[in-house]
Amino acid sequence: MKKSVVFIALLTSLFVASSAFAAGTCPQERKTKPAPANIAGMDETGGANADHGKALYEKDAKPMACKQCHGDNGDGMGKLGAALKPNPRNFTCADTMKDVSAGQMFYIIKNGSTGTGMVAHEKTLKDNDIWDVVKYIRSTFVK
Ligand code: HEC
Repeated sequence: MKKSVVFIALLTSLFVASSAFAAGTCPQERKTKPAPANIAGMDETGGANADHGKALYEKDAKPMACKQCHGDNGDGMGKLGAALKPNPRNFTCADTMKDVSAGQMFYIIKNGSTGTGMVAHEKTLKDNDIWDVVKYIRSTFVK
């Protein structure tokens, strides 16, 4: 009886530890530069194509697919992401993402976040492509 209780406690703590890991850090410390107010307030995801955004996120974006850092599940735990300081944004973290508008995302994807792994995509993605990937991220990962 006692042994099985210990065993269940161990299993539970393993499960909690692994799910906390899989979910990425939340809330995240966020020092990303704010977009200018007129861009932060923009939202052109209405007519954007989330399927195309998914293709960019998972494989087509240059220089690297977003998922390499932001993770298959948008939790910021991609193969390259885990080692980066600051960590890539965890899009599944509502506490952090409540302050990140569509326009803010657009601005950082386009211009990058200087001094971090988040590079500018203005030379490799057209504005429409960026709205497509913003739509994919917001409709798939952001809660
Ligand atoms: C090499 C790793 C890497 C790749 C590839 C990458 N990112 Fe990031 N991304 C980061 C890091 C690191 C941050 C956090 C930057 C910071 O805190 O200043 C970030 C932050 C962000 C943010 C948060 C903006 C904010 O204001 O909080 C968005 C949105 C984003 N990335 C989208 C993307 C998209 C879309 C792609 C693919 C087109 C992409 N990222 C590719 C590393 C990456």
